[in-house]
Order: sequence, then C-alpha cells, then structure tokens
Amino acid sequence: MDKTYMTHEFDVVIIGAGGAGLRAAIEATKSDISVAVICKSMLGKAHTVMAEGGAASALSNKDPRDSWMTHFRDTMKGGKYLGDWRMAEIHAKESPDRIRELEQWGAIFDRTPSGLTNQRNFGGHTYPRLAHIGDATGLEIIRTLQERGIHTGMEVFMEYTVRHLFKTEGRISGCFAYNRVDGSLHLFKSKAIVLATGGITRCWSVCSGSWEYSGEGHALAYWVGAELGDMEFVQFHPTGMIWPPSVRGILVTEGVRGEGGMLTNSEGERFMFDYVPEMYRDEFADTEEEAMDWVNSIVADETPTARRPPELLTRDVVAKAINSEREAGRASEHGGAYLNISWRPEDQVKKKLPGMYHQFMELAAVDITKEPMEVGPTAHYVMGGVKVHPETQESTIPGLYAAGEAATGLHGANRLGGNSLSDLITFGRRAGMYAAKSAIEIEEFAEISHEEIEKVVEETLAPLLRKGGENPAKVVEDLRELMQQKVGIIRQGQQLEEALEELEAFREREESASPGGTRVYNPGWHQALEIGAMIDVSKMCALAALAREESRGGHTRLDFPVPDYSHWGKINSVIVKGSDGEMKLSHTRYPPIPDRLKEFLDAEDLHEDEEESNV
Ligand code: FUM
Repeated sequence: MDKTYMTHEFDVVIIGAGGAGLRAAIEATKSDISVAVICKSMLGKAHTVMAEGGAASALSNKDPRDSWMTHFRDTMKGGKYLGDWRMAEIHAKESPDRIRELEQWGAIFDRTPSGLTNQRNFGGHTYPRLAHIGDATGLEIIRTLQERGIHTGMEVFMEYTVRHLFKTEGRISGCFAYNRVDGSLHLFKSKAIVLATGGITRCWSVCSGSWEYSGEGHALAYWVGAELGDMEFVQFHPTGMIWPPSVRGILVTEGVRGEGGMLTNSEGERFMFDYVPEMYRDEFADTEEEAMDWVNSIVADETPTARRPPELLTRDVVAKAINSEREAGRASEHGGAYLNISWRPEDQVKKKLPGMYHQFMELAAVDITKEPMEVGPTAHYVMGGVKVHPETQESTIPGLYAAGEAATGLHGANRLGGNSLSDLITFGRRAGMYAAKSAIEIEEFAEISHEEIEKVVEETLAPLLRKGGENPAKVVEDLRELMQQKVGIIRQGQQLEEALEELEAFREREESASPGGTRVYNPGWHQALEIGAMIDVSKMCALAALAREESRGGHTRLDFPVPDYSHWGKINSVIVKGSDGEMKLSHTRYPPIPDRLKEFLDAEDLHEDEEESNV
C-alpha cells in the first residue's frame, strides 16, 4: 500500500472549524503568519449550529439590571462552583464585545422594538441574556465567522481527520492527518496548534451531535501527554426529540422554554415545581400563577417582576426531573415529557421558533402551534476537556492550545445554555491570539521523528489490510449503547466498574475491525479509525465518574445521591497518560476565589464553613 505523504508547513494549525476554530483562525491571521484550518467535515458543518437558542452575554439590552457580575455569578452557580473563576470572569467581561463584533461582521441578530440586539431567557440566567437569531443562532454565527474567515488568508483543509500530534523536545511540532475523500496522507509541521474539535457526545447512543463528534480532539490531547479535566461531567440536554425513533436525540432548543414552554407529565402536572433545588428556591416561582405572571410579561415584552418558572432551572436539574418522572411511571407516551408552547399565538411561535416548527412538522408530523412536543434528555455537551491556562488557553503541553468544548474550565459541573457560543468566541479569540504570539517567537519548524511518522502511517492504513473482521459500525454502535446504559445520566459504582472493564474489551474488537474496500470515500475505514479515540474518551469519563462519590451538575450517582461540599465540591478531576501508557486520574483545585469576586456570589452556596479536604 502507498505510504507516501505530503508535507505542509504552517505557523499555526487550527484543528476544527466550528465557532471556536474559526474565531481562533480569524485572530491568528491578524499576525503576519501562515494559518491552516483542518476540519473533519465541510467548513461550517459543526456542532456550533446545535446551540440554537442564543449566545449568553450581559449586553443588558433587555433588562438593564444585568451586568458582567451577575453573568459571572450565574455561570459559577450553574457550574456548581467547580468552574475556574478566572475563566468565568474573563467570559462575563469580554463576551459582550465579542457579540458586538459579530454584529459588525454582519451577523443579523433579532432586534428589540427599539432596535437593540434582542435577548431571551434561558435556564439558570437571572435575566434575559441570550442574543439570538430565532432558533438558528449557532448557524448564523458560523455563517458570519466563515464569511469573515475566508477573507483573512487562512488555508482550509476540508474533510481531513487528524490522527496524531507530534512533540519535539517537549513542544508541539505538528500533526498528521489523512484526507477522507481520497485517502491521501499529510504531515503538517507547525509552531503552534489550536484544538477546537468540539466534544465527545457521539459516545452515547442518544445524543444531539452528528457523526463528527467522536472525541478525537480530546483523545489527541491525551495521547500527546496533555492534562484533561472534569471528564465525568457530561451535559444531558433535557429536551431532545424522542419520537419517532429515527430522530431520537435531535435537539429541541431551550429557547422553547425561554419563550414560555411548559413541561408536563402523563398526568398533566407541571412537575418542575417539585424539583426546585434549595440553592434556587428564592429565584423560582412556587405557584403556577406566579409562573404565569412571568410568562405574561415576556409575551407582552415587558420586564418581568415575578420569579421565573421552574422550567428555566439549569439543564442538569431539568434533565434529571424528566428522568425521575419517567422512573415514577409518569412519562409521556414514548417515555419522556410533554413540552407545550401551543398556548402562544401561532404567529409568535412561528416567528420566535421557526426551526422548531419545521423540525416537528417534517420529522414528527406534530404541529407545535397546536399540540405539545414530546421530549427527553439527550447527550449534548461535555464540560470536561483539555486543561488550559485561563488567559492564554495554552494546555500543559507548550504550543498546544484548546478552545470551546475541547477545553475545560469555564463551565464546571454544568454549563448554562447559551454559554457555549459566548465561550467559543471569547476563548477562540484568545487561543488564536496567543497561539500566534508563541509561533512568532519560534524561528524554524522543528524536526519530527521519522519513526513516529512511520508508526502513525502504519496505524492509519492498518484497518484496510484486515480481512474478515467485524464491521466497525457494529463496534461503534455497541460502544455507544454501553455508554448510554452504564455511564449515562444516572450512574452507579458497579455499573461504572463494569463499563471500564467492557471498554477495555473493545480494544480487541477495535484491532480486528475490518472495513474492507479502498482508501477512497470509505466511511467504514474512517469509523474503524475513530474507535480508539472513542474508547479512550469514554474511559476518561467512566474513570472520573467512578471516583467522584457524590452527585453534582452533570454527574449523578444513585449510590451517592447528594453533593458533598467538604471534599468533592472543592476539587476537579485530572486525567493524564502516565509514562507506562496507563490512564492516570488525580484531583486538584483552582486557586481560591478572591474576595473582590466572592461578593457577587451567594455566600451560603460556597459552604465555606464545611471542613476542608486535604487535596
Ligand atoms: O437549547 C439550545 O438552544 C442549546 C444551546 C446551547 O447548548 O448553548
């Protein structure tokens, strides 16, 4: 088999062309350097589009009481205080400028009657904070960044999968990729690399992501020796489609609840009133009447004075509540909950949520202006990722940067909806800027070991040489089902232990998976190559989840059902590849929150009087 490869040289290589990657590329090209963007799919086809309802930033257009301090507070509280306060501060302060910049670049946000960027309510945000374009915000942001980006001189390599990152003398020196269309092999020498590869949620069988989302970015960082953090925290968005089975998992935007959508069970009860956690009691309505007062002011485009309806609690809370109703035998017809926006006038539903109207009409034959939707939790986002410096986004490997979902820090144990779009424009910009700065300081492209290149060439071509093994699609399907059943929304120690054992058994299946066919347009080959990354990121999640003996945000243990404030509430998990090649788990903590920021937080949430752990 032909083992030749083409060599390219770029000062900065950005892997991933969603919002974070494109924003990083735009920033990096401002320096006079060469920049390549490598993406697995077509430019613009990224999970960013699945952030439908909006980008959170304290523009204070809709409610003048909003401020960066309240956004900071909401982000820390929503993340159950496991987030990096330094990133939360930067994000809250800088995201308004990033939104305004997008407008200058041509993003067409919805407007308030007085012509300002409109903002809508979302779970866990005290005020209406999400700048939006109907229910297609991520799509419009991608379109804007793409149009801006292609004029900056960056070179785009579409339909390339990166298989390996190289280090030379401890610093990142390049990456190896293959072209999915013709099977050709490519070495990219580089002075800095930004990982903007998104998340890992294709490792669960019910998810909102499409096929690209198999966790290779997280795995690449792990394989090259970078530290990853918080991998136990996976966000199950409460509202995915559940019927018909062919569309299970497709996202139903939180914007539906932000526009007054109500959740009910099979008995017609608005069950969310029964699930308001203590830490949010003061902020949420405890009667339907009060919730309706809030909703009526939203419909009338007035500033609400009533407390928010409990459908706008954070995603972890709402997803678990839907799950509990199902366990209690009060599920909707197909095992979820009913979400009803049909009480609002038809023209308003179609104007505010045009995508949802068409999605349900075309995929489920449901007219959401007249009848409720059926929804249930879907794996949507991983809070865990590459550990980065809060200002520069550099990982623990010099020259390797990460931004967006590929990085960790901002969201702690649970991300607030809308905070991912503002995350990726805020930290994508920073990653691009600091990657460019560090690349400029390096004169020559580093030498890359020939043996290492030969090894990755062999590994990449290996599946094509196998005969008679299992279909890679079947291996992937079984792995996703395992994660869904044993490392899902509700976890237990014994199941996590079983999952870890069973994941190891997948390695043998990975090594024998046989796609057949040639290097040209061969999806079986691509899938065979993805399995290794899927095993490793799934293992990171199960390992960190087994260790965390408490329930918090996107990690719920049936055997440890409550949060533990004295120990686990203060520490974050870290995963790294040990020198023996084994996955190592440890725990660490961020520096203490300074008093100047503590004053914006709810003192009782911090549990400072609890005994400190010894970590
Ligand atoms: O529900 C949504 O529109 C998703 C937004 C997000 O994940 O940020």
